[in-house]
Amino acid sequence: MAERKNTEFNRPGGYAMPTGATALQARDAKSYLDADIRLFGDAVDAHTPKKPRSLKPKHETKNPHTQVIIGDCRDVLAHLPSKGDVDLIFADPPFNWDVPYENWDDGMARREYERFTFDWLDGCIDALAPHGSLWVNIPDDTAAEIVVHLKRRGLTMINWCVWHFRFGQNRSSSFIMSKVHALYFCKNSATRIWNGDDILELSDRAAIYSDPRTMAKDTNKGMRVPMDVWYGKYWGRIQGNNKERRHQHHNQIPEVYLERVIKACSNEGDLVLDPFLGSGTTCTVARALKRRSIGIEYSAVNAKSAWERITKVGMIQRDSTGPQSSAIFEPRRTKRTALATDQDA
Ligand SMILES: C[S@@+](CC[C@H](N)C(=O)[O-])C[C@H]1O[C@@H](n2cnc3c(N)ncnc32)[C@H](O)[C@@H]1O
Repeated sequence: MAERKNTEFNRPGGYAMPTGATALQARDAKSYLDADIRLFGDAVDAHTPKKPRSLKPKHETKNPHTQVIIGDCRDVLAHLPSKGDVDLIFADPPFNWDVPYENWDDGMARREYERFTFDWLDGCIDALAPHGSLWVNIPDDTAAEIVVHLKRRGLTMINWCVWHFRFGQNRSSSFIMSKVHALYFCKNSATRIWNGDDILELSDRAAIYSDPRTMAKDTNKGMRVPMDVWYGKYWGRIQGNNKERRHQHHNQIPEVYLERVIKACSNEGDLVLDPFLGSGTTCTVARALKRRSIGIEYSAVNAKSAWERITKVGMIQRDSTGPQSSAIFEPRRTKRTALATDQDA
């Protein structure tokens, strides 16, 4: 029997749930709170936050207020003066891949690493304002555990984005890794900050097909909110002689990635926090976009280098990225556009 289309479902947004997805996720978020979900890291005692030797930022400047605090983010987050007031957190933790971070063990036993992950996630949840958003950059091996932990803590998942890069590390015994997950959660989907208009890109309809219907729209002609897989010019892994590269730092994230997150989920003057500052990408971009920011970093050496970038180098790609197209096909020359172009010539 031929498949019948269901025309009677009552799902806001229809099959693809373009608007209804968030409402469903928010409804489900509450029911997770009562669930008894156990993960491997739960077997280890939670970290007891120590009062950091000093909460006074090691580096600080005004207009907009930007601070770098040195310490273990699990301790700093617990004692942060602005706890409960942070509008946006972006976290790019160590992945436990044996990277030689200064003074930091990046090769913990798996359950210790999970416990560490839950501890800093809990610190972030407490630091966030009730309308705040939390983004986590994480590869395949820990993405699922983070999603489940944030769900069991009652947060709503808004998007599970993927940052796709073409220049992954070569391997031959399995597929080459070419992505990291960008997980977008919030405390309250109804009050979260969302500036879709500030991050528009050229739609495929406009870029490939020159479709007149998209140009006839009342708003955002030829433009759309980007899809949830992110790639393109300036979106590669930062390495070698990339203009924005900061030497001696591991796993530096592209500025365009933070630009999209910060523009979409905060407003000018808002407070953005990064618990794993690294080379300082988050605070550098936040400052360029007139947001206040706090970076937490375990290594004093990294913090010093990040501060130099934040205050002296600044955002490098700012003016090179306008609204781009992420289309993967060349523009098609339709009869209509070909005719118009020939007549114009
Ligand atoms: C993956 S890197 C962050 C890279 C950053 N997103 C960037 O674009 O440069 C992780 C950073 O977290 C720092 N770190 C590791 N454990 C930490 C902890 N418990 N608290 C604060 N920072 C920590 C490391 O020293 C390293 O600089």
